[in-house]
Amino acid sequence: MDKFDLLISEEEISSKVKEVAAKISADYEGESVVVIGVLTGAFIFTADLVRALTVPVETIDFIQLSSYKGDKSTGNFVFKKDISTDINGKNILIVEDIVDTGRTLKKLREMLTMREPKSIKICTAFDKPSRRVNELVPDYNCFTIPDEFIVGYGLDYDGKYREFKDVRIVRTEDEQ
Ligand code: IMP
Ligand code: MG
Repeated sequence: MDKFDLLISEEEISSKVKEVAAKISADYEGESVVVIGVLTGAFIFTADLVRALTVPVETIDFIQLSSYKGDKSTGNFVFKKDISTDINGKNILIVEDIVDTGRTLKKLREMLTMREPKSIKICTAFDKPSRRVNELVPDYNCFTIPDEFIVGYGLDYDGKYREFKDVRIVRTEDEQ
């Protein structure tokens, strides 16, 4: 059985999400925003974040990427699910679960920029800057975390543990 070490409690997440949502709302004052959640990991964070925003949310859409088979290291992605929203001229807020190497978000930002939105910003629940392979810096981040594999609050290990309300470092069977 996998074992876990608690990293961030439910209460810490909840208060930090509200803090970040307040900052986003202040930054977009007088504007409205289109929220794009990155599936699957960001589904819980997106739901919490949008409910804490006070800026008008025009629409909420989701996108899903997958890397070409065996090609993750080069950052070549295809859309598994594209958004159905026309983002031309809109303020886009991409909501992601975690930025690791930064390849996913760099590519996603490039792909969405081609559709000529008014602006694009990135908000992530967790950031592992020590793992970055490019210059990607999220505009908003709730928690900077060490180079550990975390689960919960939407993040999975092999499809499991997304439903945990807190965030835990997973110690897999092989590591024990
Ligand atoms: P990147 O392209 O390397 O930044 O990959 C980011 C993606 O890898 C995230 O959207 C997650 O799906 C996954 N990922 C990276 N680190 C973790 C982790 O610690 N736990 C769960 N998923 C992770
Ligand atoms: Mg993800």
